[in-house]
This record gives sequence, structure tokens and C-alpha cells, in this order.
Amino acid sequence: MQMRASLRKKVQPEAIFDTHPEVSLDFDKVRQILASGYHKPFLLVDSQLVREKTRRFKAAMPRVCPHYAVKANPDPRVLKVLIEEGAGFEIASIPELDLLLGLGVPAAEIYYSNPVKSRAYLEYAAAKGVEWYVLDSVEELRKIVSVKPDARLYLRIETPNIGSDWPLSGKFGAQLADARQIIAAAVELKADLAGVTFHVGSQCRNPENWRVGTERAQKVFADMKKAGLRPRLLNIGGGFPVRHVKPIPSIEVIGEVVNRAIADIPEDVRIMAEPGRYLVSDAGYFVCRVIGTSTRGGKRWMYWDAGVFGGVIETMEGLKYKVKTDRTGPDVPWNVAGPTCDSVDVMMKDELLPSDMQEGDFVYVKNAGAYTTAYASNFNGFPLPDVIVL
Ligand SMILES: Cc1ncc(COP(=O)(O)O)c(C=O)c1O
Repeated sequence: MQMRASLRKKVQPEAIFDTHPEVSLDFDKVRQILASGYHKPFLLVDSQLVREKTRRFKAAMPRVCPHYAVKANPDPRVLKVLIEEGAGFEIASIPELDLLLGLGVPAAEIYYSNPVKSRAYLEYAAAKGVEWYVLDSVEELRKIVSVKPDARLYLRIETPNIGSDWPLSGKFGAQLADARQIIAAAVELKADLAGVTFHVGSQCRNPENWRVGTERAQKVFADMKKAGLRPRLLNIGGGFPVRHVKPIPSIEVIGEVVNRAIADIPEDVRIMAEPGRYLVSDAGYFVCRVIGTSTRGGKRWMYWDAGVFGGVIETMEGLKYKVKTDRTGPDVPWNVAGPTCDSVDVMMKDELLPSDMQEGDFVYVKNAGAYTTAYASNFNGFPLPDVIVL
């Protein structure tokens, strides 16, 4: 495919960051819910915002069909809104598949995007009618084909995760040399290797990653065609960011980069994305409470009733949330930990929070609708957080 000069045009950094408004769940709604009492940590989600974000995503990239990444927030009420908005879905497991089938989503709209799947899960998905499966190795190709010879397959390739707050490279993604071997094996097995995907890393603040990913995908398309395959799916993955503390490019700016990058891709190639965080994060506030404070070795600690195991886990890779409190004291550095006995249960070190924080205070984590309750466990016997959907 010919690369046009405009495709290489880069968006200037000063034009892309935080020049736009973002909408978050109205904090008054959190207050209203709390007025009826507090029993345990909860996530409050405004489904109207999920609706609006889905529409905004589609408007920014009209040719790109969003397939929501269920892992970000699998609450059935959230999924129903996405179904009403015409989104498709991306799954990592059979429980996610069952959840969607139970809500009436046709199996053909569900893409199995976990690059390594157990044989039992593959057999189940095939029996339920899932058509599209990802892979990033010859081994997985052989496994899928042995279960479902007519599966439609898409190849996950490696792409830069530069500027992503939650990188997803390393564990998955074929390099170009691997891709050639996979293509050759697909030809030999008469497998329908029909697409390419990549993931730029979650909370990706660098739109250029999508351009590079798309260019690499086009190179792989060319190799596939040369080998006699018929590429007809480009899946540009997830990674679309929401506003926390660091500046982000708007979805419209990312859309400009993506739209330009896909402009030359023939009409018969379906283009999809797998947004998770973008569609649900700023629809939610995560609310929990300080169960105690302590000062040791001159260091202030506060302990919340939800920590790394209770939903506040993404801070471990350096993601920074906006944390709101009802205190007004001057900000001082705090170490913030969860309620369990595990020493990894520390969410933040030297986080600036009001000096007068005390036992019993509420803590409101803004734009926390994604990857919070979805990660929570019962470790140490602490209850799972509630999810309240408006
Ligand atoms: C395969 C795949 N697709 C999509 C997503 C969603 O990414 P995000 O929430 O950053 O949009 C993920 C996240 O881990 C993923 O692994």
C-alpha cells in the first residue's frame, strides 16, 4: 500500500494535550448516595456518561467499530448500555463470553482477543459460535485450528507502548519476523488468517503509537497478501485515555491520527477498536474510607478500607488518580495503604493529601469506573466493593 505524505504528518505536541473539556460523574450524585449511609467501598457509575462516551468515540472515528473490552468493567448494567449504543465486544475468557451471551449479544459480534487461550475455553467458544480469535504465535495458531479449523484469525503484533501509563507490551505481540513464520504456518494449515491487531498500552497519551501500529499492520497485510491470504480485519486495540492527573490528548485528536492512518485501507477491510477504559472510567467515582492513620519513623500513613486487593490497584504501575476528600488542611506527603496484611497493599507513596485526614474520613477517587471493581478480590476476607449504577 502506498504511504501518502499526509499520513506521516505528525500532530504537534502543544496541540494535543488538555486543550479540551472532559466530563466526569457529577460529584453531587456521590453525596446523594452517601446521604443514605455507607456500608463498604463502592463504585458509583453514571450510565448516561458511558452512553455519551460511546457516541463520542464513534463520532471521532466513524470508520472504527468499538468493541468494548469487558475486562474494564464487566457490570451487566454497564454492558446493557453499551449494547443499546451498538457496541460490539472483546473478551478474555469464557465467563465474559457467558455474560454477553446471557445479555443476548450475538456470538459473531464477540472477538476473542486473549492471545493464549486454554483448549477447553476454545472448544466452548467455538461451540457457542464465536468466529474471531486472536493469536501471536505458531503454537496458538495450531491450537486454535485443531479446535476450529474454520476460525477467523487475527494476528497480534508488537507495537510501541511509549507514553502509556499502563504498558501492555512484553507479554504479548509477535515481532515482524515471528509474523512471517505465523503467516507461513497459516498458509500450510489452510487457516483463515484474516486480520491484524495491536495494543498501544492502556491510558496511552501518545497518539503516534496508533499511527505506528497501523503502519506495521499494513506491512503485515502486505506479507499476508503476498502469501495468498485475504486480510480483511484491522483491530487497533484499546488504550484510549481518560483524564486523571497527567495531560491527555482528546479522543478527537487521537481520531485525527487514526483516521489519517487508515485512510488508504480498502473499504472491504473491517476496522475495529477495543476501548475499555475510555468508555467507562470517567463515568465512575470510587468511594472508600480511612480506617486508621499512623505515624512511624516520621512518616504519615493512612489506611483505606479498599486497597490494591479491593480495587485500587492501578496506582502500582504509576497511574495517578485525582483523589478528593472533605478535608481542607494543607497538603502533606502520605503513604496510602489498603486494609490487608500484605505489604504489597500500598497504593501510593508520598501522595499529597490534606494533613488533617483522620479515621472515618471518606476518600473519593475520581474517574475510577475502569479497572477498579473489575480487579477486586476477597483477599484477607474483606468484602468486594459494591457497584451502584445510575
Ligand atoms: C486485548 C485487549 N484489548 C483491549 C483492552 C482495553 O484496553 P483499554 O482499557 O486501555 O482501552 C485490553 C486491556 O488490557 C486488552 O488486553
